[in-house]
Amino acid sequence: MTARRRLLQGILATAAIVVVSPFTQLINFFYRKEEGKAQRQKIANLKDLSPGSYIYFSYPQTGDPKVDNDPFRQFVLIMTSDGQLRVYSRVCVHLWCLPSYIPSRGQLICPCHGSIYRNSDGVAIGGPAAYQPYPTNALPMGRIEVDNNGDIWMVGVEGRIGYGREWRNVKPEDLVKRV
Ligand code: FES
Repeated sequence: MTARRRLLQGILATAAIVVVSPFTQLINFFYRKEEGKAQRQKIANLKDLSPGSYIYFSYPQTGDPKVDNDPFRQFVLIMTSDGQLRVYSRVCVHLWCLPSYIPSRGQLICPCHGSIYRNSDGVAIGGPAAYQPYPTNALPMGRIEVDNNGDIWMVGVEGRIGYGREWRNVKPEDLVKRV
């Protein structure tokens, strides 16, 4: 290999590092787990739910309506038609509108550009969010606990609100604990 060729390869390698490393930082910024927001908060009781029902709520609640109405604190608790409990962030991972839950379809539908999320695991199956790369193609989920009285508590968030969730690593059913 000539000295000139080695020099050229060195320049190209340096250029690649200069170009790629800011994007690595960007990816780290855009996809990191929610931290510092965990709070144990009662959402409802099993008696309040039946298959196909759902409850919108904010988390973590502060008691200040201005703070609690922040879209990034909006969640939905769902009891699926087969009785499974699921909690999802309501912030669409496309451009942050708030999807609504449609029980008859078992889906969350975003009013802005039509992204569709299935209620079993929050993965986008239609609309622009479905074309985003893993793990930015799924709604973050709430970690919940159900106690002996049937009270349902949210205890944390799995994923990064507005960005996604590593849904291949953690099963939705593992986010529901009986305590
Ligand atoms: S913001 Fe939800 S589909 Fe675009």
